[in-house]
Amino acid sequence: MALYIATAVITAAAAIYWYVNRHKPMKHILSELRYALDMQGAGAGGLIDDWVSVWRNKITLPDANNKIAVITGGARGIGSEVVRGMLKANMIVIMGVRNTESAKKLANSMQNGDKLHAFQLDLQSLNSVKHFAENVLKEFPQIHILVNNAGIMFGDYKLTEDGFENQFAVNHLSHFYLTHLLLPALKRAGTVEEPSRVVNVTSCAHYPGKIYFDDINMKEHYDTTAAYAQSKLAQLMTARYVNSLLEDKDVPVKCYSVHPGIVDTDLFEHSNFGKLPWARRLFFKTPEKGAISILFTCFDRHIIKKGGMYISNCKEGFSNRFSKNETHQKALFDLSCNLLGIEANKYGK
Ligand SMILES: NC(=O)c1ccc[n+]([C@@H]2O[C@H](COP(=O)([O-])OP(=O)(O)OC[C@H]3O[C@@H](n4cnc5c(N)ncnc54)[C@H](OP(=O)(O)O)[C@@H]3O)[C@@H](O)[C@H]2O)c1
Repeated sequence: MALYIATAVITAAAAIYWYVNRHKPMKHILSELRYALDMQGAGAGGLIDDWVSVWRNKITLPDANNKIAVITGGARGIGSEVVRGMLKANMIVIMGVRNTESAKKLANSMQNGDKLHAFQLDLQSLNSVKHFAENVLKEFPQIHILVNNAGIMFGDYKLTEDGFENQFAVNHLSHFYLTHLLLPALKRAGTVEEPSRVVNVTSCAHYPGKIYFDDINMKEHYDTTAAYAQSKLAQLMTARYVNSLLEDKDVPVKCYSVHPGIVDTDLFEHSNFGKLPWARRLFFKTPEKGAISILFTCFDRHIIKKGGMYISNCKEGFSNRFSKNETHQKALFDLSCNLLGIEANKYGK
């Protein structure tokens, strides 16, 4: 009986969706429906994992006295709590933020706030990424941890000033470029016993995703859900592929990707949960709890030999089949280099 009711509800919802979108080609309607359903599934799976694994979310911060961390974003959301943790671990933390005043306020409210530095960074502009990296390298020639944290989710179709789809640019391509520019400093700081780390903050939302190799900016048809999934999948695949490139050359830098959990932040402003703050408070992690998996990825010693790993709730997470395909990983790496005008064999050099 329950099965009949569920089938009837889904069929009715699909029929209404089709009616509202009937001006679109059927293949686009079906693809949007598939993403909508799969994304709900990935979100529900993520929430269940957060509840079941709540006991795993613990970390003892090391004393990383005067080691250098760079983080994108961090003036709000999960990033702020990552910054707080790094400062507590006595690190020098450099934030890449759009508004450097916001970082000053943060410094006043945090233990070891005098160790917090901020430089201007807008991930919608490759020029800004380049200037940010130059400013950081001028003062800090060695970097121990890079956390590619800043991100956006959903919203209308928009191209950046460089002509890239906004979510792909902010979440993946700019971080890919920043990693390239800062890798020499990460290599200088890393040792065999204690390699430097690149931490890509991705999402369980990568799961329904694929990379639109033939239309990376999704000009033919824009589905904002598919674009977010693509960008988060790209971050995960990049961590795997760049890690393998570095391991092949015995470079003392490890790359990881991490899903922080489903966390109550402004990220949801363009989603259905944007209008349901009470539901977010009730069911989602706090930013402080969301930061724990990221800090674990930055500091845990047991994962040193597990570079490339995708982490969720301080353990290996479930990643989709597409992300594990080395041909796809290489194709994405080559495409990203190509879009940025970097020769693939000069990445990170
Ligand atoms: N919240 C979740 O449930 C969840 C789940 C999975 C993954 N994540 C990932 O976690 C990361 C942090 O998200 P959050 O939940 O903390 O979101 P948030 O509260 O909305 O914070 C987003 C951060 O990204 C920065 N940012 C956005 N666009 C930028 C740009 N163009 N240039 C520079 N910085 C920019 C923001 O800086 P401004 O203050 O300048 O806007 C802010 O610091 C994201 O990568 C997100 O995809 C979050």
